Amino acid sequence: TTVYVPRDAAARSVGADEVAQQLQLAAIEGEIGVDVIRNGSRGLLWLEPLVEVVTPEGRIGYGPVTPDDVPDLLAAGMLDGADHPLRLGLVDQLPWLARQNRVTFARVGITDPLSPEDYEAHGGLQGLRAALEMTPADVVTEVTDSGLRGRGGAGFPAGIKWKTVLDCEGEDADLKFICCNADEGDSGTFADRMVMEGDPFLLIEGMTIAAHAVGAREGYIYIRSEYPDAIATMGAAIDIARGRGWLGAGVLGSSLDFDLHIRVGAGAYICGEETSMLESLEGKRGMVRAKPPIPAIEGLFGKPTVVNNVLTLTTVPVVLADGAKAYQDLGVGRSRGTQVFQLAGNIKRGGIVETAFGITLRELIEDYGGGTLSGRPVRAVQVGGPLGAYLPEAQFDLPMDYEALAEGGAMLGHGGVVVFDDTVDMAAQARFAMEFCAEESCGKCTPCRVGSVRGVEVIDRIVAGEQRDENLALLEDLCELMTDGSLCAMGGLTPMPVRSALAHFADDFVERGDRRL
Ligand code: NAI
Ligand code: SF4
Repeated sequence: TTVYVPRDAAARSVGADEVAQQLQLAAIEGEIGVDVIRNGSRGLLWLEPLVEVVTPEGRIGYGPVTPDDVPDLLAAGMLDGADHPLRLGLVDQLPWLARQNRVTFARVGITDPLSPEDYEAHGGLQGLRAALEMTPADVVTEVTDSGLRGRGGAGFPAGIKWKTVLDCEGEDADLKFICCNADEGDSGTFADRMVMEGDPFLLIEGMTIAAHAVGAREGYIYIRSEYPDAIATMGAAIDIARGRGWLGAGVLGSSLDFDLHIRVGAGAYICGEETSMLESLEGKRGMVRAKPPIPAIEGLFGKPTVVNNVLTLTTVPVVLADGAKAYQDLGVGRSRGTQVFQLAGNIKRGGIVETAFGITLRELIEDYGGGTLSGRPVRAVQVGGPLGAYLPEAQFDLPMDYEALAEGGAMLGHGGVVVFDDTVDMAAQARFAMEFCAEESCGKCTPCRVGSVRGVEVIDRIVAGEQRDENLALLEDLCELMTDGSLCAMGGLTPMPVRSALAHFADDFVERGDRRL
């Protein structure tokens, strides 16, 4: 019997390795035929470790399984898909999964991440093979036509970025690079990590397509050091891909020559900003560069460079395999395709929800998330990482797309959704935004470096009841200055959580005698 036990870091953190060991041990001791495959996570994180047993009807799930549950499950006939209190039924039919539209995450949790055979058997390499039959310009047009926008947060059209790189010619463009930003630093986000751990060949395929499209010969994946499993899995996948001729000279028998390398970050949030990341890749301290020039024209080592997020690059193979139209058909307005939402914070059912743009925040946190884990009412939801807005209940019906959120004074960012219950102190959250900026600022420009420190002090004075009106006006001034005067999004967006907290949760910014923020 084939049994799947995830090797994803989230599953491992709650005992998946021990569960897999128990199963293997039981197989040896009981002389039963159990073939344990370590898959990626399906993204139903509250059910991890989610064990799946292959039966004639399909894959039956059991979860969350602790190592101690294993003997009992085996005795109950788990290997035949038998009933048990932990039995969840056919995994594909679990409503949480069945309602999603998994495009980028289509294979994650289903295949063995490091099996190239499994990858190809589940549609892998179709996009790359199709791309290699096309001219670079046609590949760029296909990506543009799909409407795919940068999933790192800014939502810049991927095809237009690629065209800028493709169009660079002459001596300065003798080398071009593909850099994947895997420095996923936003609070409450984990989609980049999960796809790297659960379907690493997909990222390799996406970067190789990008290389063909713009004429690059070398690529770098910049992964944060906090992701040791993703680093190991990507490294192993690159080795396998090289061995199979999916990378290197003559990719899949074509004339494309492209190789990939991993670089590990050192823990600075700002290295997720594209120009800081390039500095870091060049071996320098992660400081933001002024733009222009944009990296598409002068990027890594001054050469034309595609910088895309993991989710952007892992969506490219699907666009090429199924055609631009199929992707473009999903979504709303100018937000085409699917978004991989990540539900986190105080939420009952956290995890990955991939669905077309346009779903409401309420559907995400209530229908999928099931409300708070604490059982208390939801009070605020922060969308788009630590620099994103805090949304109150009145805004939960906003459709989740780039434009609608921007109109609502918020941003989609990298798709992180962090839920807070009614015990949250929003003045403390606003202070945290300023404190986070002070901590993570690269120090290059004054509005951010100094403004964030002053911001913490002003919020402290407001809640201490000192010259309240003057300090509130000062905070607003400071926010305006940081928004308009900062060199990059770090200082420029820090006012967003602060202002949204002030606008929607003003009651929290009053003096309370016992309060320490
Ligand atoms: P941006 O709007 O300056 O640029 C977006 C991208 O488009 C960049 O790669 C830029 O180089 C490129 N670009 C702009 N004009 C171009 C042109 N004419 N041709 C080719 N490429 C062009 O935004 P930025 O500063 O890169 O990102 C800010 C966003 O990052 C924020 O909105 C936020 O959502 C997100 N963010 C994401 C985080 C994460 O952990 N994923 C963390 C913090 C912020
Ligand atoms: Fe550096 Fe902050 Fe200025 Fe960005 S806004 S360049 S992080 S000091």
